[in-house]
Amino acid sequence: MTDNEPSEEQITRILVLHGPNLNLLGRREPHIYGTLTLEALDRALRSAAQQRGAELRIVQSNHEGVLIDEIQGAGAWAAGILINAGAYTHTSYALRDAILAVGLPAVEVHLSNIYAREEFRHRSVLAPVCVGQITGFGSNSYVLGLQALLGALGRRDLSGE
Ligand code: DQA
Repeated sequence: MTDNEPSEEQITRILVLHGPNLNLLGRREPHIYGTLTLEALDRALRSAAQQRGAELRIVQSNHEGVLIDEIQGAGAWAAGILINAGAYTHTSYALRDAILAVGLPAVEVHLSNIYAREEFRHRSVLAPVCVGQITGFGSNSYVLGLQALLGALGRRDLSGE
C-alpha cells in the first residue's frame, strides 16, 4: 500500500444493482439507452469509484428475488446502494420494502429520463425510500449517482462543510 491509497477502514463499500434487461445494454433500444455495454459501464463506474475511495460490488439480475437477496445481504457490509431497478422501478413494492428493511441509503439512477417517456414510467415506487434520483444522463447517471451517494454518506456539500 502506498501513502495515497486509502486504508481498509477508509474504503466505502457500495452495492450497485442493475435490474432486468440491463444485461442487454449496447444492443437494447440503443436510441434510448446508448451503445455502451454493461461491461464498459461497470468498468467506468469502478474506476470512478476507485478515484473516490470506494469499492463496488456490482450485480445485474433479471430476477426480482435475486435483487432483494442482494439488498438484504448488503446490510452486513455495504455503506449504501446505487440502484437501477429497470422496470421494477415502477412496480416492485418488494424491492422498496427491501431497501426500507435494510436501512441503507440508496440512490436511484436511470439511463433515460423516465419523466420524458411513457406515462407508466413516470412513477417510481422506489424514489420515496431513496435519498434521491438521477435520471436521463445515460451512463453518466451512474457516475453522478455514485458521487451523490458518497456525498450523502459523508454529508458533504459544495461548501465543503
Ligand atoms: C430504465 C428506465 C425503465 O423505465 C426501464 O424499464 C429500464 C431502464 C433506465 O435506466 O432508463 O429498464 O431504468
